[in-house]
Amino acid sequence: MPKKIILDMDPGIVDAMVLCLAAFDPTVEIVALTSVGGNVPAETSAKNLQALVEFLDPPRLPRLGIGSPPDEPPSLDYRHIHGTDGLCGVDLPVASRRSAHPAEKVISDAVRNDPENVMLLCLGPLTNVARAVIRDPQLPKMIRHIYIAGGALNGRGNITPCAEFNIYADVHAAKTVFRLPCTKTLVPLDVTESMELLPNHLENFPSEETRLGKLLHHLVRPALHNYRQCYGLEGMHVHDLIAYMVAVHPSWATTEELPVQIETSGYLTRGMTIADRRSIPEFPRNIEVVTKIKKKAVLQAIFQGLDRSANR
Ligand code: RIB
Ligand code: CA
Repeated sequence: MPKKIILDMDPGIVDAMVLCLAAFDPTVEIVALTSVGGNVPAETSAKNLQALVEFLDPPRLPRLGIGSPPDEPPSLDYRHIHGTDGLCGVDLPVASRRSAHPAEKVISDAVRNDPENVMLLCLGPLTNVARAVIRDPQLPKMIRHIYIAGGALNGRGNITPCAEFNIYADVHAAKTVFRLPCTKTLVPLDVTESMELLPNHLENFPSEETRLGKLLHHLVRPALHNYRQCYGLEGMHVHDLIAYMVAVHPSWATTEELPVQIETSGYLTRGMTIADRRSIPEFPRNIEVVTKIKKKAVLQAIFQGLDRSANR
């Protein structure tokens, strides 16, 4: 039975790769797709999501939800990695701007359509999810599981010295979502920065002779270059792909239930995810945190999934 998932994302190169893989993954059914501002502004994220869906033309067209900008747009984003258009200049046509509804409504409708059977995979800031539960307070008890790509529990951030971007970009939304009573799993930088997509991994990608292979190479090559230029790294991180694999193959992850709170203020500390690891914590244990993943299995599943999509 395919897992029913809602993908909430801010494409962005790796978010786009998740969609390329998930759209043809027989083990999942994407019941809704929602864009959120993050790597790029909300309107660019929406355009990219729509263009990717049109390019991929998946067998079942999920409902599309468009996220509007957060109440407090972050001063930082990731266009230095993903390009100003968010897809490293890959100019995908957006033929018809399909009628799309507000993301928070699409999320609520999709969950209510099949209570307790739909998982939410959050690959960007948590703006849409927070708005959905504020709009529909009964929603949390109908959500099967929320997986969140984000956070940094070892104290080392990526967008600031101590904050991970998805949390930093909308701290109040993150605070709302982390307090939800439903089952939640956090996939933090602690694990997603423990592996990299390296230049030679492109040899395992679908051939550029295929339509999808050509797109993937055009997305990843510039991203690798930008990682090298900006961070001096040989490879690039694939946070969203790892979060996807944790959601689809939960047995590949080791988790620990922890009390995790969001720091919403502080010039240096805004966006921190703080775990209370004391013997008697002050806060309730509210989220499963991934502490380890089966890296080889994840990497193999990424290559196999992309190849399946390219040759469907
Ligand atoms: O911090 C990494 C996360 O922020 C990834 O999801 C990336 O796509 C950006 O959204
Ligand atoms: Ca993302």
